Amino acid sequence: MASRKSLISMAADSFPIAKEEITRYVDDLVAMRRVGEESAVVEAETSTAKDLARLVNRVPLVFPRHVTDVVAEFDHAHAGLDTVVEPVDAAIRGLTGGKEVSLQIWLSGKVPYKFSRHDAWEHASRILTDRGYQVNRTGSEIAVSICFTPKAAIVGVNRVKDSLSSWPGGEIRLSKTPEQVSRAEFKLEELFKAYPLPFDDLAAALDLGAAPGGWTRILAGHGLRTTAVDPADLDPRVLRLRGVVHERTTAGNFLRAGRGRFDLIVNDMKMSPDRSSRLMIDAMTLLNPFGFAITTLKTGNHHVLAQIDESFAILSEGYDIVFARQLRHNRNEVTVVLRRLD
Ligand SMILES: C[S@@+](CC[C@H](N)C(=O)[O-])C[C@H]1O[C@@H](n2cnc3c(N)ncnc32)[C@H](O)[C@@H]1O
Repeated sequence: MASRKSLISMAADSFPIAKEEITRYVDDLVAMRRVGEESAVVEAETSTAKDLARLVNRVPLVFPRHVTDVVAEFDHAHAGLDTVVEPVDAAIRGLTGGKEVSLQIWLSGKVPYKFSRHDAWEHASRILTDRGYQVNRTGSEIAVSICFTPKAAIVGVNRVKDSLSSWPGGEIRLSKTPEQVSRAEFKLEELFKAYPLPFDDLAAALDLGAAPGGWTRILAGHGLRTTAVDPADLDPRVLRLRGVVHERTTAGNFLRAGRGRFDLIVNDMKMSPDRSSRLMIDAMTLLNPFGFAITTLKTGNHHVLAQIDESFAILSEGYDIVFARQLRHNRNEVTVVLRRLD
């Protein structure tokens, strides 16, 4: 029986760890080969992209960001824009009776093509439109992904809900705003796009290691009364936001004092993953039943999977790990969403 191929993406620096993770968990893996800077083809006996996406969400696996079924691979010398769109018809028909698709063009690494990403999108979109498709950038049930790599063009077709991300290669783009007080804000913003929390059910948040206040600003923006704990200063603009209170102390002291009850506790402190995880277990005394918690695990580059294993074992003593991923805005760290077990 022919094997199945999926195109998968991860942070460029994380390819070796992503491969280790995939090798560990994909039982029917045949091979995983890097094709671009942050892209790889996973060949499995029977697992499809949908199977891989399920596995990623269930375990959870931390490093894959986007996955799609490969419908064709073209050597770059034969990867003209007309040619690469050719095989998508049959694949789309296999998934849907509809004629609406999101088209995602993705250039992975230094590519030898003369056209830009914009040109490629316009051209491929025109071809698909001529064939009767309604083409958009995002929002359709089906995504056609064309990934141009240094040596090949890889064409994928998949249901967006089975692709881990609705962005080309999982490369979400967020723009800086004048109100932003820290780059760390992007991490939380990206997380809430990838894993939206039920904000209507949440009233009070605790931000451990909050300064200068980026995460606090985002939480306050979602209507949460937010207690920001940090010995360092908060940006004055954040202090002025409705519902924000600054507790100028350490996380340990605040938790020991035992004041307040929260629906969401977040932690972006720079500490080892095992310490951060233990602190999140200590923080449970202030978390309401079924409340959520978010922590970043700063793994660095060494023994990454071992650190993640250890942290997940600690966190599992008190929480369900409902989401874990190395997001685009995480550098050498992963973001984990937890739900208090009760
Ligand atoms: C990466 S910054 C947080 C950035 C923040 N999430 C934002 O969006 O602006 C980490 C912060 O943790 C604080 N921190 C480190 N250890 C801490 C501790 N034990 N208790 C409280 N805050 C701590 C530092 O003072 C620093 O402001």
